[in-house]
Amino acid sequence: MSMSFGQYPQRRLRRNREHDFSRRLVREHRLSVDDLIWPIFVIEGEQRREPVASMPGVWRLSLDQLKLEACEAQRLGIPAIALFPVVETEKKSLRAEESYNPDGLAQRAVRLIKSEAPEVGVITDVALDPFTTHGQDGIIDGAGYVINDITVETLVKQALSHAEAGADIVAPSDMMDGRIGAIRHALETERHHNTRILSYAAKYASSFYGPFRDAVGSAGNLGKGNKYTYQMDPANSNEALHEVALDIQEGADMVMVKPGLPYLDIVRRVKETFQVPTFMYHVSGEYAMIKAAAEKGWVNEKAIVMESMLAAKRAGADAILTYYAKDIARWLQEE
Ligand code: PBG
Repeated sequence: MSMSFGQYPQRRLRRNREHDFSRRLVREHRLSVDDLIWPIFVIEGEQRREPVASMPGVWRLSLDQLKLEACEAQRLGIPAIALFPVVETEKKSLRAEESYNPDGLAQRAVRLIKSEAPEVGVITDVALDPFTTHGQDGIIDGAGYVINDITVETLVKQALSHAEAGADIVAPSDMMDGRIGAIRHALETERHHNTRILSYAAKYASSFYGPFRDAVGSAGNLGKGNKYTYQMDPANSNEALHEVALDIQEGADMVMVKPGLPYLDIVRRVKETFQVPTFMYHVSGEYAMIKAAAEKGWVNEKAIVMESMLAAKRAGADAILTYYAKDIARWLQEE
């Protein structure tokens, strides 16, 4: 009795999965410490580590504490830190003048990292929300609408002050039109031609930013306000490509897609279309959701985080900005 050929699978994809050695051989993507950007919130004062309630494991750090963490980043080999200043209420204003104070908190933080942990790249956030009394990313008119071109003038001053302090990468996260071109022009004019621009090109008006707004204290100021008139509609995908195309044309060196995991389709489309350095921001809400579930014992935190990072790589992200950066760097060393 002859066995018909068709009774056995012709192809057995499980063969390569049987042993660890061959799973390793056929693995298509890998996460390394080189993929990480570590965001840090900074505050005034000394010896301060204020916990962020909605982000367990994340603190607002005074500069002396930042110095310790920057040295730790350097030891771990984390390529870059992204700075987010938490600005005191008295320093906020309608026109956000504090944003370009050469001795402002962000500017001092840049200088400190560049002197204490010079191998670590410093990325600064270019946006006005920590500095405005109303928590919007720009300067508003009487009706509360963010005025584009006046805001861009201030963003240029802010970006220049960061470059002058020694920032390696300025990262406009405000979503105003034309700001990349204006900032690039100003950097060239002021002889900061090697200061890179990381553009938050595809930044969505997302509910996943909630814990961040608590961390920087803009949630209260923003109140019932929203950012729908400048951040992108989560329903759109082609528009993200349009944004990225313009920012590259205007002089961006790298682009960011934000948030992360719910927007992996955008990461993939951007990377495939433009082949430029494409980063993903694993945002505060994504961090908070994993933390909350892990604290309840419902998920394996490390496994979920590592899988999330790998998913970002698979989608095409060249680097990932994540509040888990230090944990990941340590986990990678333990392996
Ligand atoms: C604002 C800014 C936001 C984040 C980074 N920069 C929030 C917002 O647009 O309101 C969010 C980051 C996060 O949620 O982790 N310029």
